[in-house]
Amino acid sequence: MSRIAYVNGRYLPHADAAVHIDDRGYQFADGVYEVIAVQDGGLIDEELHLARLDRSLAELRIAAPMSRRALGLVLREVLRRNRVRDGIIYLQATRGVAPRDHPFPAGTSPSLVITARRGRATNPKALSEGIRVITIPDIRWARCDIKSISLLPNVLGKQQAREAGAYEAWQVDANGMVTEGTSTNAWIITAAGELVTRQASNAILNGCTRLALLEIARRVGLTLVERPFSVAEAKAAREAFLSSTTSPVLPIVRIDEATIGDGKPGPLGRKLRELYAAHSHEQASRSGEPRVA
Ligand code: PDD
Repeated sequence: MSRIAYVNGRYLPHADAAVHIDDRGYQFADGVYEVIAVQDGGLIDEELHLARLDRSLAELRIAAPMSRRALGLVLREVLRRNRVRDGIIYLQATRGVAPRDHPFPAGTSPSLVITARRGRATNPKALSEGIRVITIPDIRWARCDIKSISLLPNVLGKQQAREAGAYEAWQVDANGMVTEGTSTNAWIITAAGELVTRQASNAILNGCTRLALLEIARRVGLTLVERPFSVAEAKAAREAFLSSTTSPVLPIVRIDEATIGDGKPGPLGRKLRELYAAHSHEQASRSGEPRVA
């Protein structure tokens, strides 16, 4: 079955889907995006993702391409046309098409592209054995809270990780504190049993998976601290993991050359992953079935 993409009001065969070369996303990375997980035909944490989308757009003063309600319908239509029940949906909104010039163009409407694809399951070996991360300097801009499509430092960092045989790179600020991964949030469990993740600020993207995990951790009464942690503290942690829409709670067993805990995924991470799976299941059933033609 051929894939269908939504491009500015039209549903097009994926192979023919294109935006204009003067789109400001292409020219300036002047746009934002979201990646939402799809499970059993439902959208996971849709409210959190659409609220973050609204925030990212507002911070960049890009008009919302359509209402929240209309967007919810288009997202479901893209899933329906692509027969995606388990996978991800990608949404990108830019300031629109205008002759290349830095200031905001007048009278331009935003562009919106939405695609969906099957499969998001994390590699079972990564889950059972854990993954490696390396640490790199955080060379990004000072507004990492905006989910901007400008991802060059993230791309370079992820490539560096892959070339080092690692899954992810944890970015480190000028004070030696971990900010986040290149496409994931960073977590540790200290020797004292505290669950630690950096507090939301301009230094990190406030992950929707992060927010869902924080709520779960509070609900089950874990000792939770939102604060920066150093690379040294992470290396001495009892457990470490990362979180994102595409990899919720992925255990980390090595940071640079340091082994974390006993070198195997730890029990608290596993428990959080199970709790998150229950949360996703509940979200999927609440999200409403896309109508199947
Ligand atoms: N990445 N930090 C960064 C820099 C990210 O790009 C992401 C998401 C996250 C986790 O956010 P969430 O839990 O909402 O997925 C943290 C997406 C998945 C991506 O770029 O593909």
